[in-house]
Amino acid sequence: MDMMTKIAELTAENMKALWPETEGLPAADEIRGLLAVPPDPALGDYAFPCFRLAKPLRSAPPKIAEALCGAWQHEETASVQPVNGYMNFFLNRANFAAEIMDELTEKGDRFGASDEGNGKTVCLDYSSINICKRFHIGHLSTTMIGHSLKRIFDFLGYTTVGINHLGDWGTQFGKMICAYKKWGSKEEVEKNGIDAMSALYVRFHQEAEKDPSLEDEGRAWFKKIEDNDPEAMEIFRWFKEVTLRDAARVYDKLGVTFDSYAGESFYNDKMEPVVQELRDKGLLVESQGAWVVDLSEDNMPPCLILKSDGATIYATRDLAAAIYRQNTYHFWKCLYVVAYQQDLHFRQVFRVLEKMGYSWAKDCVHVAFGMVSFEGEALSTRKGNMILLDDLLDQAVVKAREIIEEKSPGLENKDEVARQVGIGAVIYTDLSNNRIKDIDFHWDRALNFDGESGPYVQYTHARCCSVLRKAPDISGVAPDWNALTDDEAQALLRLISRFPDVIRDAADKYEPSMVTRAVTDIAQAFNKYYYEHRILDGEPAQAAARVALTDAARRVIKTGLYLIGIEAPERM
Ligand code: ARG
Repeated sequence: MDMMTKIAELTAENMKALWPETEGLPAADEIRGLLAVPPDPALGDYAFPCFRLAKPLRSAPPKIAEALCGAWQHEETASVQPVNGYMNFFLNRANFAAEIMDELTEKGDRFGASDEGNGKTVCLDYSSINICKRFHIGHLSTTMIGHSLKRIFDFLGYTTVGINHLGDWGTQFGKMICAYKKWGSKEEVEKNGIDAMSALYVRFHQEAEKDPSLEDEGRAWFKKIEDNDPEAMEIFRWFKEVTLRDAARVYDKLGVTFDSYAGESFYNDKMEPVVQELRDKGLLVESQGAWVVDLSEDNMPPCLILKSDGATIYATRDLAAAIYRQNTYHFWKCLYVVAYQQDLHFRQVFRVLEKMGYSWAKDCVHVAFGMVSFEGEALSTRKGNMILLDDLLDQAVVKAREIIEEKSPGLENKDEVARQVGIGAVIYTDLSNNRIKDIDFHWDRALNFDGESGPYVQYTHARCCSVLRKAPDISGVAPDWNALTDDEAQALLRLISRFPDVIRDAADKYEPSMVTRAVTDIAQAFNKYYYEHRILDGEPAQAAARVALTDAARRVIKTGLYLIGIEAPERM
């Protein structure tokens, strides 16, 4: 339990004992919310404003504060002092340190983990790339937010299913095959992968402007895919394979994995029953030859289900996918980590599921995020300034390598560390802000070893490791927690004690950036501690306590970085 909760509960108990008859007194939850951290440390670690009690007790706040302080008997937790209507708490610092350090010793790498999710499954739809298209910087957020949430939910005991809902269906694939048959070569595509396929696609559109009959040919090829024609299917499958091979290179670099690649085409044979069900439930209405679900009651445009030629669309596939996921995984939550531009699409799909009578529709969540710009410039395929993720990651590693060469020329495994630091810098930037905010990627910020960055946090982790390597063997010495009562140690301990709550909040809000924030704060607090105190000096019992605190910081930073998908090198 964290300190604020403990203090709030003890205060609530005291109130009950002091004024058993009075109604309208705040419960522990509310007290916790009212607890403040005084700006001046001389006023204590926490303060409870008694003004809230004036009304139910019909008394003045200073008197109430005095009564509460008079009745306080928990000196082992904190001593108290009434000041101007506030009840000020001064933590028993040594006990506080002992408590957290004991918990850390007991839980080890599982500190912050829990089993609260046991028996519950979370489906996560993330990355979900489109076949034959390049994997660019715009795909970074969906990939990394999804991957991080998966780790966070795993850590809290949930069963997770990571799904790459591939965009592998649509008329464009007919065009691709048409272009390939006319101008492509097997060797070229094998050699240059997605680049070669993109070039074919561009060529198709250029040629089709001159010769519109190509469009019909493209459609005819798509019809062949739909009809399972062997030649069409073979090429189509191969395109998919080449795309996934290219993508795997990027996923490997990022350390991202999936449990399922069931994409849009996977639902080909699963939509008919859904359409039938919509019809049976009286939800399907005709509109200009197409079939839609009317959502005017919900102030939304109709959800298109079947086009006038009878073809299904993106939304139809998402309906089938959601139902399939519920039937297969019995999910507790199904998260869609997709850009905010698709907000309407998901609201429509979830609403249609609800109208179909699926009560679990409320467990489908669109986890939206903002856009990425680069060095202040908006990126778009149309403008032709799109940055490929693969290139960005490679550049990050090269730049990290240069910095490491300069800062630590003697480091042994520079290439490996450069890889960890470069990739970490990119991921950290992506997960450093509230996900809905747009991100502006700047090299100098991402790779600033002294600022709030991935390298900074990784460097702090390596610093902890280095202190621990230098520590003499004090394994037999019982630590004296009185050595951790200074302000810097206490600030660090407080952040560490809140870490399990942060993970839970991050899961609640689907917000990995809360973990990023917490590891950064902990790294900063450790560095402050490191500059103010000589960890290895003094009595062995005191050194043992400071070494234990260093190890705690190391462990929590490592866990936090892991949860956002970043590696933690031990030497930098
Ligand atoms: N492939 C889509 C795109 O790139 C994203 C798919 C998201 N997932 C889903 N179930 N709709 O826009």
